Amino acid sequence: MGTSVSIDGVLVDPGTASVPVMDRGFLYGDSAFEVTRTYGGQPFALGAHLVRLRRSCERLGIAVGAPDDALRAEIAAALDAAANPESYVRVIVTRGVTEIGLGVGQGQTTRRIVVVLPLPAQPAALYEDGVELATVMTARSLDGTGAAGAKASNYLPNILSLASARARGGYEALSVGAGGEILEGATSNVFIVRDGTVWTPPLELGILEGITRGLVLDAARDEGVEVEQRLFFPHDLYTAAEAFITSSLREVVPVVRADGVVLGDGRPGALTRRLHAAFRRCAEDVLASERG
Ligand SMILES: Cc1ncc(COP(=O)(O)O)c(C=O)c1O
Repeated sequence: MGTSVSIDGVLVDPGTASVPVMDRGFLYGDSAFEVTRTYGGQPFALGAHLVRLRRSCERLGIAVGAPDDALRAEIAAALDAAANPESYVRVIVTRGVTEIGLGVGQGQTTRRIVVVLPLPAQPAALYEDGVELATVMTARSLDGTGAAGAKASNYLPNILSLASARARGGYEALSVGAGGEILEGATSNVFIVRDGTVWTPPLELGILEGITRGLVLDAARDEGVEVEQRLFFPHDLYTAAEAFITSSLREVVPVVRADGVVLGDGRPGALTRRLHAAFRRCAEDVLASERG
């Protein structure tokens, strides 16, 4: 099981792979990124991840610096070099090195980095027993900017929210906006189930357009389950029959408690399980279509 790193298309020794200390990704978190995983060695929904990476870079004014074909080849080479049964894949595009100071300057030297790691195993208990969420009032790094919703690397608000949630026994932090509305997890999107209908916050709130979120919404529609993208508040979560979070690495994780309040019967919900199974079927279709 191995790690591999490619910088600007060149595989480098992962033990010594480095970027200059003046790289703005290091100095300011001035970069965008994507994370996906492999299934059967094949990177999942790479097309959708590359579309989102370009959209993030566009919102941040960072040039990706390579066409999709080149990015795909760089990812494939890194996966080959790591030779894992299943891998975690991270792609980062930083604005690179400029004169010191916040000004983005001219002629940016953007840098692309691909990191492949062995896929971290998710404990079975996450899915069998469900998890607890802890709400955290927080502003995210791009809130109120024209780049809201971009997957920028500055995750300090998310890191601090997660630390606060973990200190209260939560598995995941759930960010709550200034109006008390529920937004998203530190590294996940959130859904609740009320009266058989699935609610999830709308993208207009500046949340990340999760790839898993999109597929779960498709899967719910295929299953004939009603879905509403709408504002909701902690009280709606506490009184929901079911809840779950989604992310590329974890798929669909049932939520059984929020801020110490037991949801429904305190067990992973039946609709949550059904949507997870439907997500897996959608994922199979995505993988088959990507294999061509
Ligand atoms: C803030 C945030 N929201 C949602 C997600 C879930 O997105 P995806 O399903 O594309 O992994 C992530 C994933 O890391 C995230 O960081």
